Amino acid sequence: MLSDEEKAQILATFDAEIRDLAARRGYQIWDLISLSDATPNIEELLKKFEQVHTHTEDEIRAITAGKGIFIIKGDQDAGYFDVELEAGDVISVPENTNHFFTLMDNRKIVAVRLFIEKDGWIAHNVEDPEFVKA
Ligand SMILES: [Fe+2]
Repeated sequence: MLSDEEKAQILATFDAEIRDLAARRGYQIWDLISLSDATPNIEELLKKFEQVHTHTEDEIRAITAGKGIFIIKGDQDAGYFDVELEAGDVISVPENTNHFFTLMDNRKIVAVRLFIEKDGWIAHNVEDPEFVKA
């Protein structure tokens, strides 16, 4: 678990890169999310994250430590595909695109999240008959 002070320190370390990203697409706010088995209610959180959903703005994550995986819906032929992320990776899941996130075998990720507006990343769950969980 990262303390608020440690989170602030990590955000300060990447401040220039974050502001560069923010300027490109108009992100207004950002924070640091840290998930691991030490996170309170991690199982409940993962259950929520593992629902297929969309947002009205893109979901941008810059990974600073650990690993994670996004499962994203491509076009009709591609179906759902996996994007594995590790430290140094930045992903932007486009707005209104079915996706979900989960941890990988190391069960740990730290990532910067950027938002255009606070409500933009509210998850709208999608029941997609095409999606079959492995
Ligand atoms: Fe999402």
